[in-house]
Amino acid sequence: MDKLVIRGGRPLHGKVDIGGAKNAAVAILPATIMAEGPCTIQNVPDISDVHILLEIMSSMGVDVRMTGKHEYYLDGRGLVSSVIEHEEARRMRASYYFLGAMLSRFGKAAVALPGGCNLGARPIDQHLKAFMALGCECVVDHGMVYCDSGRGLKGNQVIFDIVSVGATINAMLAACKAEGRTVLQNVAKEPHVVDVANILNMMGADIRGAGTDTIKINGVKHLRGVEYSIIPDQIEAGTFIAAAVATGGDVEIDNITPKHLETIVSRIREMGGEITLDEECAYVRRRGPLLATNLRTMPHPGFPTDMTPQASVLLALAEGTSVIQEGIWSNRFRYADELRRMGARFSVEGKTAIISGVSKFSGAPVVSTDLRAGAAMVIAGLCADGMTEVRGVEYIDRGYEDFVGKLRALGADIERVEDLEEQIVQQEA
Ligand code: UD1
Repeated sequence: MDKLVIRGGRPLHGKVDIGGAKNAAVAILPATIMAEGPCTIQNVPDISDVHILLEIMSSMGVDVRMTGKHEYYLDGRGLVSSVIEHEEARRMRASYYFLGAMLSRFGKAAVALPGGCNLGARPIDQHLKAFMALGCECVVDHGMVYCDSGRGLKGNQVIFDIVSVGATINAMLAACKAEGRTVLQNVAKEPHVVDVANILNMMGADIRGAGTDTIKINGVKHLRGVEYSIIPDQIEAGTFIAAAVATGGDVEIDNITPKHLETIVSRIREMGGEITLDEECAYVRRRGPLLATNLRTMPHPGFPTDMTPQASVLLALAEGTSVIQEGIWSNRFRYADELRRMGARFSVEGKTAIISGVSKFSGAPVVSTDLRAGAAMVIAGLCADGMTEVRGVEYIDRGYEDFVGKLRALGADIERVEDLEEQIVQQEA
């Protein structure tokens, strides 16, 4: 196990490149098994969630080759298995995308219920509702999800009860080759939903309306192999925007899609960020003191839940009191205790957090409670007096490529070291 050691107080300066979107990659890589030829996927982020997915695909019989920096050749023609067992699925949440992809490919799928960050209850009833509407029989037994379409999937109307990114993408995957027309209503509109629709259309699917409330899909018989580049990661970009503003730095953030960042940028401007968006980059500085504001997280185009921990660091250092209302997850604020260790005044009641700004954090040992909370701990450490140690680095590795290297290149005093104390505790336990 490693930990991060941060000596705070240095504003970030310079340029940083944003990688491919994690939440698009974890859907697009499984989707390649639906093609009848090899696919080359570019701008694949070098993060542990992607490594796990590629290991699962390799063990299923997909020919996986790294053909360049951030580029993979994936040939699923030799795929044999339609079963993903517990040990594999438990390692990441997005293993559920194999359900939709394998249903499309084989007409049946068996995947263990997924793992992932502990943000609250993570049911997949809406995914199964869509599969059943398309004519599948779905059974959950001993932690495995079994889906079987019998004599093939048939297009249908699906009205989701709640807006779910995963269920929207999974339904799109399953419906591409379903016979006839599928209409998905009350769907998620996140940029990664559109990215998945784009690659599927390039493969030969007929999907319209991705990015709106209704997606219409006319089933096709064949999908071909393609070359495709994944969109930039809006949350990684948002994280660096928050870090630049929090430390009072001056950072150029390159390889972004400004449209995907509109909500994040407008809200961080209200908190005191001075942000100029260009065609593919953002110039970020602090305008003056950080300012309190209220936030409510909502599905896209609302403020993304995956940006609340990073934004809450800004609010915890702002003048005044802010309220964050979490609209997606029941357990998003588990990191509040950790930020309190650093001096933040942060109280949580259910899905609401009340933050009273303080003028400074003081460095302390803290633990990442999930991926985005880990990023928030690091940003807090960069702003704190003295030394902060962040444990639970494996969460950060799930979704941030070379986070430490990118921050060091911006002048941060941060290093990753082996956590000998943790090893001793483990040996004693
Ligand atoms: C995705 C993102 C995650 C982000 C979340 C919300 C990936 C791999 N992860 O997660 O980082 O925080 O979107 O933007 O893309 N729900 C149900 N039944 C279902 C499915 C979801 O009740 O069948 C509920 C969930 O408990 C949650 C809400 O719907 O309260 C939204 O979940 P969803 O959009 O599905 O999140 P994920 O796709 O798992």
